[in-house]
Amino acid sequence: MKLTLPTLLGLLTASALAQPVDIESLLQQMTTEEKLGQLMQIGGDHQGFSDKDGMEMVRASQVGSTLGVRGAATVNRIQKVAVTETRLKIPILFAFDVIHGYRTIFPVPLGEAASFDLKGMEETAAAASREAYAHGVKWTFAPMVDIARDPRWGRVVEGAGEDPYYGSLVARARVKGFQRSGKVVACAKHWVAYGAAEAGRDYNTADMSERTLREVYFPPFKAAVDAKVGTFMSSFNEIGGVPASANRFTLTDVLRGEWKWDGVVVSDFTSVEELIKHGIAGTPAEACEAALNAGVDIEMVSRTYLKNGARLIKDGKLSQATLDESVRRVLRLKKRLGLFEDPYVPEGTQAANFLIPEHRQLARVSAARSCVLLKNDKNLLPYSKNVKSVAIIGPLGDSQQDMMGSWNGDGQKKDVTTLLAGVRARLPGARVTFVKGCPVHGVVTDFKTAVAAAKAADVVLLAVGEDADMSGEAASRTSIDLPGSQLALIQAIHATGKPYTVVLMNGRPLALGWVADKSPAILETWFAGTEAGNGIADVLFGDVNPSGKLPITFPRNLGQVPIYYNSKNTGRPWSGKKNEKYASRYLDVLNSPQYVFGYGLSYTRFAISAPRLSAATMDASSPLTVSVEVKNVGNRAGAEVVQLYIQDPVAGVTRPVRELRGIERVELAPGETRTVNFTLSRKDLLYWGPKGGWVADPGEVLVYVGNSSAATGKASFRYVP
Ligand code: NOJ
Repeated sequence: MKLTLPTLLGLLTASALAQPVDIESLLQQMTTEEKLGQLMQIGGDHQGFSDKDGMEMVRASQVGSTLGVRGAATVNRIQKVAVTETRLKIPILFAFDVIHGYRTIFPVPLGEAASFDLKGMEETAAAASREAYAHGVKWTFAPMVDIARDPRWGRVVEGAGEDPYYGSLVARARVKGFQRSGKVVACAKHWVAYGAAEAGRDYNTADMSERTLREVYFPPFKAAVDAKVGTFMSSFNEIGGVPASANRFTLTDVLRGEWKWDGVVVSDFTSVEELIKHGIAGTPAEACEAALNAGVDIEMVSRTYLKNGARLIKDGKLSQATLDESVRRVLRLKKRLGLFEDPYVPEGTQAANFLIPEHRQLARVSAARSCVLLKNDKNLLPYSKNVKSVAIIGPLGDSQQDMMGSWNGDGQKKDVTTLLAGVRARLPGARVTFVKGCPVHGVVTDFKTAVAAAKAADVVLLAVGEDADMSGEAASRTSIDLPGSQLALIQAIHATGKPYTVVLMNGRPLALGWVADKSPAILETWFAGTEAGNGIADVLFGDVNPSGKLPITFPRNLGQVPIYYNSKNTGRPWSGKKNEKYASRYLDVLNSPQYVFGYGLSYTRFAISAPRLSAATMDASSPLTVSVEVKNVGNRAGAEVVQLYIQDPVAGVTRPVRELRGIERVELAPGETRTVNFTLSRKDLLYWGPKGGWVADPGEVLVYVGNSSAATGKASFRYVP
């Protein structure tokens, strides 16, 4: 640690405060204005505050936390004012959107979720957290745990996909990773149902039954709570007429009452003031009243609390107890993070943390494990490393910026390995050419150079997809096709008769249509981060056997949306017969998606036995074991993600046709067999009953085990309460 002035001051403060701070006595000393200051979060960057009055506000005890202010020296400079020049010397908590990496950028969260590698996700979150801390950031606005069933919504890229069970496992892993050091706090966002935006348009209305809310949208948040997440962010959307940032049911009844969670809720960016545009508040004062009373503790950026809180208390519209409770939560969080003892961060530790080999290696492994092999006709992949020439064609083949995805912390494009650079590094002896062919957007009709490059090469890789700005916040689309002339580019290469691999780079499920039908090989690589090119090259040239699985359904076309594996049967399920009328189906497309949830190929093959159950019945106190043998029957080492689904065919309310209840990623040498055991217990059967409350019905439960949500291995048991 470098002994700079702020560090020294930190040590001094720490020794001066030998007694841990007593939150209650601190609260008693605070004026209403100082309390409201703790609930104010203002924005900034490396330089400091974006608001001109930021520093004055700190001096006036009007800033409790910040968003985006970062850089150890900047943070310490501001912190010094807070802890030496204000009356009560309460430290500031510095937050930032550290979503999938800080300086080392890991694959976008949806991509990383495709790895089904929970340990890996915990490690990348921990690495991001270390880098963030080295830059003064002690609060990550991640993980985003919103369930997303609509690929039009650009923010599908930020979560773990469509499934509440898997989303819960990922939420837990990420929270644990971000918070591992105990010095950084994570934020489960966006509470809640933000991903259910009508028509996939960002910020749009959501409306649903309490059952869907509880069974589909709540679970990853509950998992975050169970993993001891320190903060939540309230979302922009409304749910059935009540904006999420003023929803007392979700913010207080559920979070505090049912889940007994004592963390901090921060609003999303100006979402408190936006209650006016939502139309449930006529003035900023009414917005403040609604949000604080509902349970939003900290207001991000807008200043309705700061400006109106005191007046509302005088008028009896806000109780002192409510205000105190929010402030108590904030102070408690700061205490838990050790901010009162050591408000500063060591300076000069970036070099020891940023882009260090361990983080780069994590990023590379994660990039490779995130790849999902969608198609591989005639085992075109993997390519031999002895090839003489490779043509990389397509607008994303050498785009450093796009590989970082839509959120990229303090990532810098100069650090990024593109597909071109990765393949060149992998094959030093080969001639590797690059032709852009066309831009991501816009119409091009002449593909002569691209076609010539393809004809002249042994290996042809088409790097196509979306640019990074096409997903993420405020990036909804009404088409999920490949944009611009990229399909025409693929078709022009296809016409040469030369085999090729489509290397997809995108932040949402795409409707692949012709490509899925005709292209010989497709590798989904998402936006794979700093080590994108190296990780993808590892897969293409066989050093890593792909094991990723889709965490979200890929529809055939947008008309099928919303489409997800855990749907309902309906009273008229389609039998699949060609001319069947009056069945729940389309005239012009199959009901099935292009690629189901949980799908992904490997360079080897795995045989999974039929599931065996440890007993024919289950009761409330004794769990069941479901076992399968998984064998690598090919001739390459590889990993398979074994998946267990259940179905309750007759229940008090209709149940999904399948629900994921177990995953296990197993690595197997050629010829190796492993027994995978899953445990099922009563909690796996619970659903939100017809009269409210969690229930499990007596009767038959079907079990499916396989390597996708279309698993065919089947067994059943009876649940006897
Ligand atoms: C708005 C986004 O919805 C949220 O995810 C993010 O954390 C905040 N802005 C802060 O940047």
